[in-house]
Amino acid sequence: MKNINPTQTTAWKKLEKHFSDVQQLQLKEQFEKDPERASKFSIAWEDFYLDYSKNRITADTRDLLLELAEECDLKSAIKSYFEGDAINATENRAVLHTALRASADAKIELDGENVVPEVQEVKEKIRKFSEKIISGEKKGYTGKAFTDVVNIGIGGSDLGPVMVTESLTYYHNHLKVHYVSNVDGDHVHETLKNLNSETTLFLVVSKTFTTQETLSNATTIRNWFRKSAPQEAVAEHFAAVSSNLKNVEEFGIAIDNVFPMWDWVGGRFSLWSAVGLSISLAVGYNNFEALLKGAQKMDEHFKTSDLKENIPVQLALLSIWYNNFYKAESEAVIPYTQYLQKLPSYLQQAIMESNGKSVDRNGKKVDYQTGTLIWGEPGTNSQHAFFQLIHQGTKLIPADFIGFKESLHKDKDHHNKLMANFFAQTEALLQGKTKAEVRKELETKGLSDDAIERLLPFKEFDGNKPTNTLLINKLTPESLGKLIAMYEHKIFVQGVVWNIYSYDQWGVELGKQLASNILAEIENKSVNNHDSSTKSLLEFFLK
Ligand code: F6P
Repeated sequence: MKNINPTQTTAWKKLEKHFSDVQQLQLKEQFEKDPERASKFSIAWEDFYLDYSKNRITADTRDLLLELAEECDLKSAIKSYFEGDAINATENRAVLHTALRASADAKIELDGENVVPEVQEVKEKIRKFSEKIISGEKKGYTGKAFTDVVNIGIGGSDLGPVMVTESLTYYHNHLKVHYVSNVDGDHVHETLKNLNSETTLFLVVSKTFTTQETLSNATTIRNWFRKSAPQEAVAEHFAAVSSNLKNVEEFGIAIDNVFPMWDWVGGRFSLWSAVGLSISLAVGYNNFEALLKGAQKMDEHFKTSDLKENIPVQLALLSIWYNNFYKAESEAVIPYTQYLQKLPSYLQQAIMESNGKSVDRNGKKVDYQTGTLIWGEPGTNSQHAFFQLIHQGTKLIPADFIGFKESLHKDKDHHNKLMANFFAQTEALLQGKTKAEVRKELETKGLSDDAIERLLPFKEFDGNKPTNTLLINKLTPESLGKLIAMYEHKIFVQGVVWNIYSYDQWGVELGKQLASNILAEIENKSVNNHDSSTKSLLEFFLK
């Protein structure tokens, strides 16, 4: 990919000038001025409808942002991404999670070899394995069918699978799927407390098979298992997903139960591979396949749509607008369905591990802002938690609102209430409440003039808060696949424009190294040289 400092482009300079002209833009006025605004700033695609008209932009802003994307060579970057160029240059790897959901007849070559047949082979293995476990054909060591599955992994080997599994709860079969990730022993022991070794299947998911958390949890679980089960049962009750076959074998997992992974799939983009085995077990292979299908449709949309009509591109550019011009520090993601409760934490890894970088593709420190902070919780719960700050705090927090036309349990009464809140919030964030409106409201309540004057400043809302509204027909495996892929591509576009490498994560290494040194000190009860804070904390801990 090219090295283009975005701030040195002509489009950026124009955007700076444009920003100084429009930064005081009032959304309410824009809507009053142009009754067609909503249709001009929205994209309808398949079962998705994105309304981005409640953003502090004009048609010129959008044009200039698109110019920026063009000047940063986004189109050829998209080509490199899908064609398997080594765009993860610091690790000299391709970034091909899109190949995991490509159709069976696609041809995606890496070092002269089409990777698609290999992907299909692993998918077939996932299908057969899932069907045997779900149907009870494959049994535990005492001849009983499996009832529980424990996924042992962390980061990308946990967050994607747990988020999708929970999001698709409505589609679950009888298997109960649990996730153990934290090296905190209480996590694993709490999970094991209610499990029966005879009927539990364990999936050890680790791309590298060297991750401290996963190996500690897997070892603890194997020891627990061996208390009631014979050694030969380990091979049957444990499966692994990894690209490190040597370490998997040493752990004692039967080769038939090993699912490969490739170095061209980044951990945080791996739920589409065998890392998603727990998803396939929880909802059945056909639903897993539908999830992949949805992602593949979003890939096609992203690859082939005009940039102006391109959902991930528009979302990415809007985010750049707020991050780099309005200097907004964070973005909120608010799904209006309890099923998507884990989406924000999944996106935290996907977005912040990818674009939390401060060195550009030339190896130089950037002098502009990159990755945004991501946070969120489902509505309406979040309305009663942190919405106060979004409405009346001092920070600008652009937010994505994600809602569904249909609910899964078809309770119309609840769904209407939920969606009324969904629409009301973005409207309230846009409109705010003027002093005159507050005054009128308080007068109707019969308050004295003095009381009204005192309350006015507190009850006034500035409004003008930007939101995107994504309305989807229904939460299905396919629409969820589209939604996740949409955010994956948004991440990619932002990395391209910011001129950073989105697919490595060197920043997590230092903490791991220091933890291993400190662990030796804790075990030996001898504290080495540290800064005085760390030293006294360790001494206090060991006392
Ligand atoms: O935290 C860093 C990280 O490398 C993530 O990128 C990855 O998803 C996670 O650790 C787990 O790695 P592995 O699958 O190799 O155990």
